[in-house]
Amino acid sequence: MNPVGCGTHLTILSVCLTWPVLPTGLLPLPSQLTFRPLYIAAPMVRYSKLPFRALVRDYAVDLTFTPMLVAKEFTRSHAARYTDFSTNVHDRPLIVQFAAKDAVTLARAAEMVYPYVDGVDLNCGCPQTWACQEGIGAGLMKNPEAVRDMVRGVKARLGSEFCVSTKIRIHSDLRYSSYELK
Ligand SMILES: Cc1cc2nc3c(=O)[nH]c(=O)nc-3n(C[C@H](O)[C@H](O)[C@H](O)COP(=O)(O)O)c2cc1C
Repeated sequence: MNPVGCGTHLTILSVCLTWPVLPTGLLPLPSQLTFRPLYIAAPMVRYSKLPFRALVRDYAVDLTFTPMLVAKEFTRSHAARYTDFSTNVHDRPLIVQFAAKDAVTLARAAEMVYPYVDGVDLNCGCPQTWACQEGIGAGLMKNPEAVRDMVRGVKARLGSEFCVSTKIRIHSDLRYSSYELK
């Protein structure tokens, strides 16, 4: 049990999803479709930086995440941006994961990375004590309205087509998780 009372960690985006592989230039019939897993490298603080992402792409990873970046620091400090976020033209598709607790800050951070990424992810699962005390990470599992407002805030700023995901935990009592997901 972690400090916010959540149980099993749900890595929604690191499970294998099926994804069609289409023959180049052809629209296959449904019976001709083949499927393979979609490989996603989940966010890892200290590890999921540009060199690591380049490495895992060489091993057929389809989608990569940055480590969790604290949106408040990211928006107010050039040094934080310089240290925390680097990318290049080969580094796609890429999702930036932010820790945030208010819509304005998250939308501002998302706008800063918008030209370089394919979406942003809101961390609602970090169990570290400092994060929960700040009301970010797993602290958000008790505040679904804030999560909703942040997702809406990014969509309002960057358009409804822009991908915004949330990484959550599954509560040991699933009724709480379904409440949180609503
Ligand atoms: C060293 C390390 C750093 C991590 N950092 C993050 C992070 O920044 N954001 C996040 O959402 N999860 C983070 N995680 C959790 C992973 O993304 C993942 O959910 C977890 O390792 C469970 O997946 P697995 O069973 O494939 O290992 C981290 C995990 C590890 C081991």
